[in-house]
Amino acid sequence: PLVTTTEMFTKAYEGKYAVGAFNVNNMEIIQGIIEAAREEQAPVILQVSAGARNYAKHIYLTKLVEGAVADAPDVPIALHLDHGDSFELCKACVDGGFTSVMIDGSQYTFEENIALTQKVAAYAHAKGAVVEAELGTLAGIEDDVNVAAENASFTDPAQAVEFVERTGIDSLAIAIGTSHGAYKFKGTPQLDFQRLEKISQLLSGFPLVLHGASTVIPEFVEKCNLYGGKIPGAQGVPEEMLLKAGKMGVCKINVDTDLRLAMTASIRETLAENPAAFDPRSYLGAGRDAIRTMVAHKMRNMLNCSHR
Ligand code: G3H
Ligand code: 13P
Ligand code: ZN
Ligand code: NA
Repeated sequence: PLVTTTEMFTKAYEGKYAVGAFNVNNMEIIQGIIEAAREEQAPVILQVSAGARNYAKHIYLTKLVEGAVADAPDVPIALHLDHGDSFELCKACVDGGFTSVMIDGSQYTFEENIALTQKVAAYAHAKGAVVEAELGTLAGIEDDVNVAAENASFTDPAQAVEFVERTGIDSLAIAIGTSHGAYKFKGTPQLDFQRLEKISQLLSGFPLVLHGASTVIPEFVEKCNLYGGKIPGAQGVPEEMLLKAGKMGVCKINVDTDLRLAMTASIRETLAENPAAFDPRSYLGAGRDAIRTMVAHKMRNMLNCSHR
């Protein structure tokens, strides 16, 4: 069924695992993720960025998700707005059938972020939807805003408590060293687990969210590079770190880059190996299969959310 994240997060918190939130923008991506969730009997969050919503159009995405819900009636599915940047966008998604929205005011001052988040939370809650917000900024490319690595500021634990109390949000995205995209670390991957532990102690029982959590699977990167791509030096968050975060109050783990890499690697491979093929179903189908296998692996081994 189509649900909010409330029960998902309560169970994930208590069970010390995390629910995967996967970015979607077309049919094959949605189907690949839902096939994995059905196989693994795992709850799942389908999330749509402003860019994805502009690309595919709101109505197409909600109808595809409606199809997914009918196709997998036993799977709890939440439909979430990723990185909403305004009250109006959040309102449009709540009004248009999303069960969850993120208002990302992380680029504003603390007080501005609180005011904007409060407004979204009041509206969404009145309509039965839930709200994620963000405190602290991730390094790398956050939707349209390019946050320079030097400006990345990790979430302050005391501020996180005040932010959650004053906004009434349902989950909080924190910055502890992850970043969006395929180039997350120059040297050895490192996350600030001490900070996560502190935040999670102070906000005991409250669901935390980790953005920028793709593992940047080497197999896909190599396949892209082998078949004409150019993504040298890509590096993601090690799977063990995400498994650990899921035991420390992180209930939602965001993945987009790995979907993009899975899709692109398999399309490049299919086209290169079958030069005569030109039926889009051959390569889009290969992309869908790669996504299914990859997402099922994450659910089982990294999120630990299979059969939950
Ligand atoms: O956080 C960013 C997500 O990967 C969405 O990216 O804005 O290019 O759709 P996008
Ligand atoms: P990745 O770029 O690591 O997949 O992160 C996605 C994300 O945080 C979407 O909000
Ligand atoms: Zn994000
Ligand atoms: Na968890």
